[in-house]
Amino acid sequence: MKLAIIGCGYWGPNLIRNFCQSKRVIELICCDLDQKRLDRMKSLYPTIAVLTNYEELLERQDLDAVVIATPAKSHYPIAKDFLSHDKHVFIEKPLTHSCETSLELIKLAEEKKKILMVGHTFEYTSAVNKIKTIVESGELGKILYIHSIRVNLGLFQPDINVVWDLAPHDISTILYLTGELPASVNCQGKAHFNLNIEDVATTTLNFKNGLIAFLHTSWLDPNKIRKTTIVGTRKMLVYDDIETQEKIKIYDKGVEVPPYYDTYEEFQYAYRYGNIFSPRIEEYEPLKMECEHFLDCILKKRTPLTDGYSGLRVVSILEAANKSLQQSGKAIQIQNHKITNKKYTQRRS
Ligand SMILES: NC(=O)c1ccc[n+]([C@@H]2O[C@H](COP(=O)([O-])OP(=O)(O)OC[C@H]3O[C@@H](n4cnc5c(N)ncnc54)[C@H](O)[C@@H]3O)[C@@H](O)[C@H]2O)c1
Repeated sequence: MKLAIIGCGYWGPNLIRNFCQSKRVIELICCDLDQKRLDRMKSLYPTIAVLTNYEELLERQDLDAVVIATPAKSHYPIAKDFLSHDKHVFIEKPLTHSCETSLELIKLAEEKKKILMVGHTFEYTSAVNKIKTIVESGELGKILYIHSIRVNLGLFQPDINVVWDLAPHDISTILYLTGELPASVNCQGKAHFNLNIEDVATTTLNFKNGLIAFLHTSWLDPNKIRKTTIVGTRKMLVYDDIETQEKIKIYDKGVEVPPYYDTYEEFQYAYRYGNIFSPRIEEYEPLKMECEHFLDCILKKRTPLTDGYSGLRVVSILEAANKSLQQSGKAIQIQNHKITNKKYTQRRS
């Protein structure tokens, strides 16, 4: 296949490396507004072609697909251009900057019968897939709450706030694990440096079945932390993505209320302190898996695991979080009638 990658900044080079290594890619063209970035890419990967204006690629009949790794607000116009010119499109997270534009791209891809995929990388990690198996097996019991923390110092983004920058991975992971959309979202945050761009925020996802998920995101933290805790009625699980050896730990811990008691003195919570188990997880690069999945979906005409609707679901939560931020944390309902497709409904059942 012949592919183009638009955007060779911080993340683009990871995509370039993976597509360069793929046996199925016979030509890779890299595009960036910044010639210095292109010179650097060319020195690392001499076989690639480079150019500064992606519009030169639109009319190329032999180009199969395009990968977009530019800042979030430019995803929509670039993707629209390429879908309109019959190219398959992979877009880095978040799919676009609004539900309206995400829906427009989904419709355009359907009309053109082209693949539209979003880079929800965590859905391709062995750790998240292991956790999904554990959750679905019922080992943790009923999930009571999920807490995720994704913080570090920087990188401050000029066009999107910390929720749009850091929360997409946690949101997509939570939706993937639960197979549910929250009914409503609350978000509170603060902009300390740029007046309109929040650099720290807490987002709460409220699900119909009582599950609650808290997401803490910050560009203003001394430590880099990537941790998710899932508390179930039977066991508790901690996923630490920074850990190299034991990323997942399952704690056989819990609390039980005695079934019978007559007096207040008899009433005592029973705490269980059991074993801690760390399951083995397969080692592979999730981004490689994701890139190969995109190529597979094009060749076999399959719907990607993280398709346009998956991107739209995440964007719908980000958009609701933004509205909530502007209204001091008020709960914003998620309109889910537009954002479920057949595959999602099947996966949920
Ligand atoms: N999947 C992941 O884990 C992950 C991690 C980091 C970033 N990302 C995503 O990747 C995307 C890019 O983020 P980044 O941190 O690399 O940003 P960045 O600002 O470092 O790089 C963006 C690059 O795009 C180029 N660019 C902008 N507009 C362009 C245009 N019209 N034509 C050609 N080039 C253009 C810029 O010159 C820049 O080099 C974002 O959507 C971000 O959310 C994903």
